[in-house]
Amino acid sequence: MTFQHRAIIDTIPGYKQGKPAPQVEGQRSYKISSNENAFDPLPSVVDAIDSHALTRLNRYPDMRGWAVVERLAAKYGVEPENIVLGCGSTEVITMLVSLVAGPGDEIVYPWRSFEAYPIIVTGAGATSVQVPNLPDGGHDVDALIAAVNERTRLVIVNNPNNPTATSISDADARRIMQAVPSDVLVLFDEAYIQFNTAEGTSVAMDLFREYPNVVVAHTFSKAYGLAGLRIGYAIAPEDVIDGMRKVALPFGVTDVAQSAALASLDAEDELEARVEAIVAERDRVVAALQVQGWEFPQPYANFFWLPLGDRTEAAAAEFLKAGLSTRVFPGEGIRISIGEPEANTAVIEVCERLKTAGF
Ligand SMILES: Cc1ncc(COP(=O)(O)O)c(C=O)c1O
Repeated sequence: MTFQHRAIIDTIPGYKQGKPAPQVEGQRSYKISSNENAFDPLPSVVDAIDSHALTRLNRYPDMRGWAVVERLAAKYGVEPENIVLGCGSTEVITMLVSLVAGPGDEIVYPWRSFEAYPIIVTGAGATSVQVPNLPDGGHDVDALIAAVNERTRLVIVNNPNNPTATSISDADARRIMQAVPSDVLVLFDEAYIQFNTAEGTSVAMDLFREYPNVVVAHTFSKAYGLAGLRIGYAIAPEDVIDGMRKVALPFGVTDVAQSAALASLDAEDELEARVEAIVAERDRVVAALQVQGWEFPQPYANFFWLPLGDRTEAAAAEFLKAGLSTRVFPGEGIRISIGEPEANTAVIEVCERLKTAGF
């Protein structure tokens, strides 16, 4: 960059958005690269947007998103003062990081994990302390604890972890809570919580009720299928929420997004049925791949991780040829979202071919 700027920004790796479905002559193609919900939006949600929000486009939204906040407070049995909305949970995490950390401060998180973490941390001028995952893709809890020191301002736990889809147990999450000083916040990023069927998993809201330093981040992007509208939220102690609101993007959460979120909270039964269908599809794919002889972490999200190492790019090319855009981490592995049933069947077929080819 030829203009005066913060040199640290040059070190930020650009966020790599999941690629769109490839164009393959004479063949249907699918985008399974961004952990989205493949179901179309619920008619009741579309209707809520049509009938309410679109008539108010000339007005700023309610900055605090009070109607949604109150609904969420009732759902979780907390005070509205414990909740802040953001443009997706990405913004909520950004608010939290800029609240607690700046130059000289450290933020500890597992790696690989959500690729926005290093971008957000570096953007705040703070230092990332990335703790490598265990060989099974799970958080290395002992190493996370050992990485905490007097410079630590935040510890992030991603459950289930993107991209490895692993879950952290309640016992391990409690070990982290016991080890971290009570004035250092611990963020539980639970973007995929609704898909987490792991027995004994940590549930951050339980910890929030027991510890003074827990922040929970949730989103409407995944199970609720509203990725395009950008709305998520954090649940945290009141003073943390106060601080986060100070650094929030003013009017960041649109009225359209708020209307859709409210309508989605009214349709939780329908959305739960969709989550069950996605989990069933995930389990179908996992079972088929295990029969084929693949070894990969048991997934507890709406995606799974194939640790392919140096064969990653070769395998990714086969998926592309079959009309499937996956999220490729060169030299490490491929993250595959659970998509339409036809897409999932195509994934199984590609994996079969890869196995036959010696992968
Ligand atoms: C672990 C994790 N956290 C948070 C997010 C943010 O999602 P959003 O900003 O759409 O709420 C994602 C999105 O992929 C994610 O994978």
